[in-house]
Amino acid sequence: MAEVYATPTPAAFGMQGPGSCGAVPPAAAGAPSARPVLSVRQVEKVYGNRDSVTRALNNVSFDVMPGEFLGLMGPSGSGKTTLLNCVATIDTATSGHILVDGRDVTGLRSRELAKFRRDELGFVFQDSNLLDTLTGFENVALALTVKGEPAAQVRPKVEAVARRLGVFDVLGRYPYQMSGGQRQRIAAARAIVADPKLVLADEPTGALDSRSATVMLETLCMMNEQMGATIMMVTHDAFAASFASRILFVKDGAVFNEIRRGDAGSAEFFSRIMEVVTFLGGDVRDAG
Ligand SMILES: Nc1ncnc2c1ncn2[C@@H]1O[C@H](COP(=O)(O)OP(=O)(O)OP(=O)(O)O)[C@@H](O)[C@H]1O
Ligand SMILES: [Mg+2]
Repeated sequence: MAEVYATPTPAAFGMQGPGSCGAVPPAAAGAPSARPVLSVRQVEKVYGNRDSVTRALNNVSFDVMPGEFLGLMGPSGSGKTTLLNCVATIDTATSGHILVDGRDVTGLRSRELAKFRRDELGFVFQDSNLLDTLTGFENVALALTVKGEPAAQVRPKVEAVARRLGVFDVLGRYPYQMSGGQRQRIAAARAIVADPKLVLADEPTGALDSRSATVMLETLCMMNEQMGATIMMVTHDAFAASFASRILFVKDGAVFNEIRRGDAGSAEFFSRIMEVVTFLGGDVRDAG
């Protein structure tokens, strides 16, 4: 709980303000003609059996438009990871529908699911989940080769993304030879190199020190604003959330509030997030 209030100030990073790289939402977001990249419709998730039931998600509905950078905040146990995992098709909703680019993924079979995840989604986890026996280059390239990308295009694509994300110099290294921040940016490169419809990130800065976390958040912003990635990011951290263009607050498995950056300045957006966090009881960061 105390960590919410210990959120480092932007000045500590030498930045202009929280989330200062994303003040203006992309033009496509909210345009009447645009189709949502993600539609979550009345999703429920119940774990357990008759003796012990946990209602992890309770009638959750929302859309994510192309070019949005959505933050998902909420107290520990509120259902954030469950929601992300249902969208990721790693977990299955008990009822309701989840549409990615208009396609209902709740009814896909396992072979279709594997293809769907590979072709339409990019993932960034708290621990980068890179393959230890592959170099940075090979880890990123894998996302292209499993999709059948012609060999001649793999190297230029991997190198171009790595250059933009500031990890070109570590492409030849194995994960254990990289810093935590470099590993996360290689993971971000892997997530975006194959041009997914949606990038899903669960606490992508959770294991990083504040300096590396800021670089990672700026990287996600850049992917969103300059590379056109639509991102859904789960985070405990108000500073991390302040990089998003819209934030959904989840409590007890339901969306109970939503705020948009709009044309608010970064500092204003950050303080609006903090207001909701305070309203939530200040335990948006894990109470443990
Ligand atoms: N496999 C499972 N079996 C039973 N209950 C589960 C399972 N996974 C999650 N839960 C429960 O569902 C609820 C939501 O969990 P979830 O992991 O989505 O929370 P979270 O918001 O991601 O929390 P945190 O911030 O701590 O990561 C919790 O009460 C949790 O105990
Ligand atoms: Mg979680």
